[in-house]
Amino acid sequence: MVKYVVTGATGALGSRVFKHLLDRVPASDVIVSLYNPSGATPEILSSGVEIRKGDYADPKTLESAFAGATKLLLVSYPSIAYGIRVTSHEAAIDAAIKTGTIQHIYYTSLAFAGDSKAAVMQAHIETEAYLKKSGIKYTIIREGIYNESFPLYFGSFDPMDGKDEVLIPDGDGGIAWVCRDDLGEGTTKVMIAESEFDNKTILLSGQQSVTLTSLAQKISKIIGRNLTLKIVPVEEYVKNNLGKSDSWPESLLRDWATTFPAIKRGECATVDPLLRNLLGRDLKTIDETLEEMLGSKDASAQNLKRYGK
Ligand SMILES: NC(=O)c1ccc[n+]([C@@H]2O[C@H](COP(=O)([O-])OP(=O)(O)OC[C@H]3O[C@@H](n4cnc5c(N)ncnc54)[C@H](OP(=O)(O)O)[C@@H]3O)[C@@H](O)[C@H]2O)c1
Repeated sequence: MVKYVVTGATGALGSRVFKHLLDRVPASDVIVSLYNPSGATPEILSSGVEIRKGDYADPKTLESAFAGATKLLLVSYPSIAYGIRVTSHEAAIDAAIKTGTIQHIYYTSLAFAGDSKAAVMQAHIETEAYLKKSGIKYTIIREGIYNESFPLYFGSFDPMDGKDEVLIPDGDGGIAWVCRDDLGEGTTKVMIAESEFDNKTILLSGQQSVTLTSLAQKISKIIGRNLTLKIVPVEEYVKNNLGKSDSWPESLLRDWATTFPAIKRGECATVDPLLRNLLGRDLKTIDETLEEMLGSKDASAQNLKRYGK
């Protein structure tokens, strides 16, 4: 019998997997592992699934959280900091193996290249290698860049600051944007499949690659402005963002700046038909998400923040 344990089920991606999984399998076949069980969402609480405590930072909780399940969805730790991510992921993989019941780990990696120099990808590359070496059956799912996260890639875009110049470091390139709900459904279908994805690294992407320049045109149309992309040295990009009220610390901004050479290199531009085929319908486009996020009168920095973590 297959029994699933899902991490990150309160988060943007994991909550979508949780929903789509419960549409397809009985609640009695699903365990949710939360680092803070009292933060379970109403959807989790009303579903009837078993809720257990599993904190990446407290490895002894992970083995008991995963015990008895056969398939683990390991949602990557939400940070771009390298060390804490690698430690968290390795602790979860070790705990899964220790249970003796987990037979297959599904790891949510990211849609950059396997030899990427982007800081955000380094912990994923390390975790992918650790998982492959572990000997347990795995599927590495390189999740495409969220439609909803476009502000991060678009110079930390804030429509309320009134500036028409969007500063990014290095160069532009295509991104095969994809929405979280489609990723959640696709990830669920991969987890439910019998053996098709055993010991594979797969890419779930959108159906179209859209550059940041083209994104500027799309956004301009929606909000009635004339946004232009300006490529500036990293120093200027960092200085520009440090000035913002909710700015990241300088070291994280510098790390994030390494994302842009990778985009220019085309690492996020690959369009893979797999997700479209799994879902059997067209995927939600970046245009539709932009309209939802920016088209209404309440489009505000707050609204973007809510979507664009
Ligand atoms: N593909 C993309 O474009 C993209 C964009 C942004 C992020 N990501 C990455 O994709 C992954 C999933 O993203 P997401 O959007 O679902 O992130 P998210 O909304 O921040 O969700 C993260 C999940 O991890 C849980 N979590 C936090 N600390 C934990 C801990 N110590 N132990 C166990 N669980 C913990 C959170 O629980 P609480 O809700 O209780 O805090 C939440 O359920 C993250 O690694 C994120 O950085 C991908």
